[in-house]
Amino acid sequence: MVSLPNWYFDESKMAGVDFEDAAQAESFDLKQPSSTPEKEQALVYRLGITSGQIVIDLGAGTGTFAIQASLTGASIHPVDISQAMLTYARNKAQKAGATNIQFHRAGFLTYEHCDRLADLVVSKAALHILPDFWKMVAFLRIASMLKPSGRFFLRDAIFSFPPAEHEAAIQAWIEA
Ligand SMILES: C[S@@+](CC[C@H](N)C(=O)[O-])C[C@H]1O[C@@H](n2cnc3c(N)ncnc32)[C@H](O)[C@@H]1O
Repeated sequence: MVSLPNWYFDESKMAGVDFEDAAQAESFDLKQPSSTPEKEQALVYRLGITSGQIVIDLGAGTGTFAIQASLTGASIHPVDISQAMLTYARNKAQKAGATNIQFHRAGFLTYEHCDRLADLVVSKAALHILPDFWKMVAFLRIASMLKPSGRFFLRDAIFSFPPAEHEAAIQAWIEA
């Protein structure tokens, strides 16, 4: 990783679940109803990923999406801050015969993209981990990784209510 000024957000200190533990990585992989090979294959199809494209997956986790995307013949760069998640994903990719994948231990704020500019950047259920200001920095960095006609697909928890209405909106969301 490149050397960063000391005021830079340290994304290696993740909030929430500790994915540095190999057992957590396995348990995450086995309990992901939203990230089965079938669902990720459908997403790959929906996003129109094809052979020869460059795709970056930021916060790639145990790699289910990356593996399905690589089976199209596209070149995939799964990026994750957690070594345990990457190790698990790498083993899965090997078993699936997915060879055109380059795994990177890095994050939204530190990944240095050294391949051709990407056709697509994907991020699912990971960006919420960053504080809001640093999400904006991440968006700037993502834009710089994409070719001019490139696309960014984000799936995450996004609240769209005015801040003054947060109590009622969150309560309604919890009860829904
Ligand atoms: C809830 S998992 C989602 C994994 C995968 N995208 C999926 O849809 O199943 C969140 C992932 O983000 C990773 N992560 C946490 N902070 C990160 C950061 N700053 N940059 C990149 N990945 C990060 C975690 O290690 C974890 O693998």
